[in-house]
Amino acid sequence: MNDLEMYREQLAICDDKIIDALMERNAVIEKIMAYKETYGMPVLQPAQEEKQEKRRKEKLAGNKYQEEIQDVFKRIMRNSKRIQARKLFHYNIVLIGFMGAGKSTISDYLSTMFAMRLIEMDQVIEEREEMSISDIFATYGEEYFRSLETKLLKELQNTNNCVISCGGGAALKEENVKEMKKNGRVVLLTASPQTVYERVKDCDDRPILDGRNNVEVIAEMMEKRREKYEAAADVVIQTDHKTVLQICEELITKLMELNGK
Ligand code: S3P
Repeated sequence: MNDLEMYREQLAICDDKIIDALMERNAVIEKIMAYKETYGMPVLQPAQEEKQEKRRKEKLAGNKYQEEIQDVFKRIMRNSKRIQARKLFHYNIVLIGFMGAGKSTISDYLSTMFAMRLIEMDQVIEEREEMSISDIFATYGEEYFRSLETKLLKELQNTNNCVISCGGGAALKEENVKEMKKNGRVVLLTASPQTVYERVKDCDDRPILDGRNNVEVIAEMMEKRREKYEAAADVVIQTDHKTVLQICEELITKLMELNGK
């Protein structure tokens, strides 16, 4: 064996070690998940993730391959999250609720924490139409916008393990709800009219409010929609005065309870 062949052999041994270490790591991830479940502990513990990151940074300080190794760890972390997400949810998580209930914020956080694909329906529609939601309403009317929502929801039933953040009106149509439930669990986020007002008062991209952006109008519209939202929901989460982390943790717990049923 010449030197080159020997080095290649050493490289193959290194790869084997990496595979073994990753297998071991993934097995530990599964044990941590099982432990948290047994003892009813929160699934999301961002502080722990930060601690681990800090430790890695310290270990790699001054290492000439620091950047490359950190890049690999980014992937490893992402894949750990995917393993967790696949184990916890074999379906899409579909967030519905009134505007300002927190759909975008919660779906963004959830998709980051579990490395799940995020689909913001309003955003996809805006990109496809190359127009803002307000302009779509103004140019083609609400019915046209609603038909785009239905079309998109139908397409999304071919996906799995995604977080889908619906537009506030998407769950009002029975046909849409049927689509959501084909491959997903529907989570309704609620908030009081006052909270919604605080969250949307400075936005001018809510054509449904049509400039009548006040607590009374919001309360009235919310009450009109309440029954349909509740009928569509598999899980309901009230978001007032809660942190994003608290809301996500409650959402996970409630979905896991549903899994068990
Ligand atoms: C709507 C809510 C909006 C958007 C559109 C219509 C509604 O989404 O889809 O303006 O009917 O409630 P957000 O709830 O994300 O603001």
